[in-house]
Amino acid sequence: MSVARIVLRNGYKDIQYQPLPKEIEDAEDVESPVSVGGCTLDIATTPTSSNNEQQRLLTDDGEANIPLQTDDPEFNELIAESERAIDEGILPERIYQGSSGSYFVRDRDRKTIGVFKPKNEEPYGHLNPKWTKWMHKMCCPCCFGRSCLIPNQGYMSEAGASVVDTKFGLGVVPKTKVVALASETFNYTPIDKAKAKSVKFATERFPDTLGKNMKAGLPPKIGSFQVFVNGFKDADFWIRRFQEEPLPPEVQKHFQHLFERLVCLDYIIRNTDRGNDNWLIKYDKEKADDPEECIYVAAIDNGLAFPFKHPDEWRAYPYYWAWLPYASVPFSDHTKDLILNKLKDLDLVQEVIDELYNVFKHDKGFDKNLFERQASVMRGQILNLCQALEDKKSPLQLVQMPLLRIERRGDGKSNRGSNFIQRFQDKYPFFSAC
Ligand SMILES: Nc1ncnc2c1ncn2[C@@H]1O[C@H](COP(=O)(O)OP(=O)(O)OP(=O)(O)O)[C@@H](O)[C@H]1O
Ligand SMILES: [Mg+2]
Repeated sequence: MSVARIVLRNGYKDIQYQPLPKEIEDAEDVESPVSVGGCTLDIATTPTSSNNEQQRLLTDDGEANIPLQTDDPEFNELIAESERAIDEGILPERIYQGSSGSYFVRDRDRKTIGVFKPKNEEPYGHLNPKWTKWMHKMCCPCCFGRSCLIPNQGYMSEAGASVVDTKFGLGVVPKTKVVALASETFNYTPIDKAKAKSVKFATERFPDTLGKNMKAGLPPKIGSFQVFVNGFKDADFWIRRFQEEPLPPEVQKHFQHLFERLVCLDYIIRNTDRGNDNWLIKYDKEKADDPEECIYVAAIDNGLAFPFKHPDEWRAYPYYWAWLPYASVPFSDHTKDLILNKLKDLDLVQEVIDELYNVFKHDKGFDKNLFERQASVMRGQILNLCQALEDKKSPLQLVQMPLLRIERRGDGKSNRGSNFIQRFQDKYPFFSAC
């Protein structure tokens, strides 16, 4: 692993790469300090935005401790409505095409309002309803699992993508948070089902003061809940359509901006699963007079992001959008103006990392060191993205830039003189196209 020396001042704009002596460049894992002047960078292990209110509202399902309520009243109301619908027998419905237990959640008018993905029904969760995933896990985990990701934390990644999207003002991820829900349509163990049966039997004698699911005794499942967006179709569908029937120029321009925001999101979170079926487009050609009302993009299925290292084994997990013609167009000034200053604001970057910490830390498998590595990958991605926006590169050129991580050194307890080391990736996967 080669290491370069880097000086960060007042954001990323004054980055100075200092050439290294040849022997150091060739050495494995040699560290060289990075000094940060004039920037206040706190560490991820001492989040600034810890919230006592939330600490008091923790629930524990044996998988994670999560706040019973989010800090977003609108979102809380959506969850309350989902619970009321479940109580009235309008139960979440499994999405059959998915590789895991994912559910469409409806309101009392039977309108779909969210997508719920329980942690323990994720591809490698112990209650995943798909037998093919069970076979993968049992027979050949090294061929199917993603070694760069922390296993079974997809729901956290879903919520984390929403944090990044909101904080950087990208506006492409439907709001997603971690919640707890119970429904008899979810996949439970035979023991849970048996327990539920006896609780139900006992509580049926009491008047209807308890919610039905409480009565049924089913344990709530922790998982991600994403707001359902209406009228969207897989990007694959629309992209094929646009090839036959090109968009009007102004609409095309707006679509290109939305596409660039998707690229920024995926690059920052280092999404390893962005096929063209994992982002959605809504297009209403009747509204071509107003491009912003005419076309929308939604980045869904963000559960396989936030790796703790760059992919370096068998598969490269490319961003599938890189092969689209839109990826060869240089980043627009519009996108640069929207995001570059935010990405260069190291305080904001640290705030995002702190907020991710505050989400991820609730998982039972949370590991501070792995989180620190996730943050290092993300800082490296942000640095590359800044450079690409500054140089007006295209998304295709962005994904070809040398990969790096920016690691924090020391205990980081002091804001002054926190040290960062930039490390270039020198190990690349065997297969680069899959
Ligand atoms: N927020 C959303 N709004 C509207 N539709 C959605 C949303 N999330 C998911 N969907 C729909 O549900 C389908 C499955 O969702 P998703 O890809 O997130 O599930 P999954 O179980 O992770 O599937 P897989 O692992 O096969 O990709 C999507 O292709 C899309 O059609
Ligand atoms: Mg999907």
